[in-house]
Amino acid sequence: MISVPFAALWVRLLIAGAIAVPLMVGVDLAAADTVAINLVAKHQKVKVAPGVKMKAWTFNGTVPGPVLRVREGDTVEVTLHNADHHMAHSVDFHAAEVSPQAVFKDVAPGATESISFVARRPGVFMYHCGTSPVLQHIGMGMYGAIIVDPAAARPAANETVLVQSEFYGKVKKGKLKSSYNAMRTQPPVFTAFNGRAFRYRDKPIELAVGTPQRLYVVAAGPSLGSDFHVVGEIFDTVQPDGNPANAMTGVSTYHVPAGGGAVFELSFDEPGSYPFVTHAFRWADLGALGLFRAA
Ligand code: CU
Ligand code: CU
Repeated sequence: MISVPFAALWVRLLIAGAIAVPLMVGVDLAAADTVAINLVAKHQKVKVAPGVKMKAWTFNGTVPGPVLRVREGDTVEVTLHNADHHMAHSVDFHAAEVSPQAVFKDVAPGATESISFVARRPGVFMYHCGTSPVLQHIGMGMYGAIIVDPAAARPAANETVLVQSEFYGKVKKGKLKSSYNAMRTQPPVFTAFNGRAFRYRDKPIELAVGTPQRLYVVAAGPSLGSDFHVVGEIFDTVQPDGNPANAMTGVSTYHVPAGGGAVFELSFDEPGSYPFVTHAFRWADLGALGLFRAA
């Protein structure tokens, strides 16, 4: 059973909706080998930091977009509707091994296109808009995580998805005015887990002492990775790209590159507040810092 720090929506039927945080979209693991996923490219005002909003480019109205979940071997059928009347968008899945020109193609304003790929490898991967300039489309908010569950199920654990990203531009009167030029030439103004600076510092993720924890971490960038660390803990395993075959043991800090993902497994032996950060502290100070509260 999946539980996530936001609304736990692990359901048999395909779901989609607009809530303030990523939600699970997928099908029952045992039931299907073809998974239909609907994505809509659209503009949406989102909160990116305490008291700060931004007019983002999104998948399904949230930044990050929905957490997608399929199983190794599934055929993933994605329908992308471009509800943005100003420009083309597309979707590039790092979980796919396909010709990018054929599959990650631009969808014209107002148009709808379907693509499909087979999720051959288990793990946790980024997806993002691949329309040029990619830096701008990711920097404006068009990214998310897709989990490909291994054919042989993972051991039971409490699961959490964390997508790290950063935002660029100038803040004026509670509004972040994003700028492509700032993405190209300047440091970010905010970094975030799940789309909002300090989201889980202000509302810690509650966990049970002794329960195995599995974190699916994606570093969406557009340009920074995550030097992922939990203060006061050592990871039992780190699985680069989330593939169990890649498991390393006894790791304190692991760099998830921009565009990459990893699974981190740990358990908390003692009650307390455990910060999780990108240990590149210049960037953690801008918002990629949260708390696990173990009780
Ligand atoms: Cu786009
Ligand atoms: Cu990519």
